[in-house]
Amino acid sequence: MTESLCETPAPRQQAAQRQADIVALRALLARRIVGQQRLLDRMVVALLTGGHLLVEGLPGLAKTTAVKALAQAVHASFQRVQFTPDLLPGDITGGDVFVPAEGRSRFVRGPLFHDIVLADEINRAPAKVQSALLEAMQERQVTVGASTYALPGMFLVMATQNPLEQSGTYPLPEAQLDRFLLHVVIDYPSAEQERTILDMDLGAGIGGAAGEPPVCAVDADAVLQAREEVRSVHLADSLRQAIVDLVRATRAPEQRDPELAGLVAAGASPRAMLALAHSAQALAYLRGRDYVIPDDIVELAADVLRHRLVLNLEAELRGVDADSLIGRLLGAGAFD
Ligand SMILES: Nc1ncnc2c1ncn2[C@@H]1O[C@H](COP(=O)(O)OP(=O)(O)OP(=O)(O)O)[C@@H](O)[C@H]1O
Ligand SMILES: [Mg+2]
Repeated sequence: MTESLCETPAPRQQAAQRQADIVALRALLARRIVGQQRLLDRMVVALLTGGHLLVEGLPGLAKTTAVKALAQAVHASFQRVQFTPDLLPGDITGGDVFVPAEGRSRFVRGPLFHDIVLADEINRAPAKVQSALLEAMQERQVTVGASTYALPGMFLVMATQNPLEQSGTYPLPEAQLDRFLLHVVIDYPSAEQERTILDMDLGAGIGGAAGEPPVCAVDADAVLQAREEVRSVHLADSLRQAIVDLVRATRAPEQRDPELAGLVAAGASPRAMLALAHSAQALAYLRGRDYVIPDDIVELAADVLRHRLVLNLEAELRGVDADSLIGRLLGAGAFD
């Protein structure tokens, strides 16, 4: 037996190193993408919880660039799928194909069988295709006929929606939106950021920093182990209760603020409650802590809840949308 050159670090040190690597990964993404902090944070939160992202933003805001950079940084296989009206479920899941030489059918894997999948313009494909994607996201497997095929352990979907394109689109059914961990809305960069994007494109790099290419220390195994560690980030009793109370308040908002009576047709589900807890744990981990603080929850609340609330006509008439309702619930809650 050969003597090993170095000691295996104690498990605690390994975990601390992994967390530092994830923090470094986030910093690495910021070298490639100017601003869009919220998108970058949410991508890593999704990676750390095994959740999926719905991203709404105009064209050209670096959605593709960001998710590709994430895939490269974690050594993940990446696939982009453009959703179109003529797409069929089998085009994304794959299906059985007859192989004459073998005299039998064999399953050919579709584009979903990648670590990270970008589903572009998800609302341009018909309901059957959306369902196939959302089912795969939830089950983390694909079923064709009597057989089931597991998707990769990392499997992360980032789906995009263009807020301007309404005609010829198929809005996602509300019930299925619940499958997305977070719904992130992104906007234009600032004037200063836009100038940096141009300078970078012309070869200066962010802040003029060139030099050695950075090391990408996170791979699929590290991601899966980090997911385990995120699960044990401390969530204090009072914050657990505040999360439960906030989610329950989306179903009866008038209990927090009488002016919000009669505006909500459907509030958020227990799945949303778990999503808020898990994503707050992941954000805390990403910020280098091993405990959640109220700000983690407040920061993520709108992204976890906005796509899961169904407001009624009365709300529309009174100019109350999901974001303003969530803002008022947070203001009247236990997080100040
Ligand atoms: N914040 C940013 N940081 C760095 N580059 C950016 C940023 N915003 C836009 N870009 C650049 O703009 C171009 C378009 O970006 P990208 O293709 O990622 O946009 P997109 O959001 O995926 O657009 P679409 O919705 O049309 O697919 C790329 O060259 C990208 O590098
Ligand atoms: Mg794109």
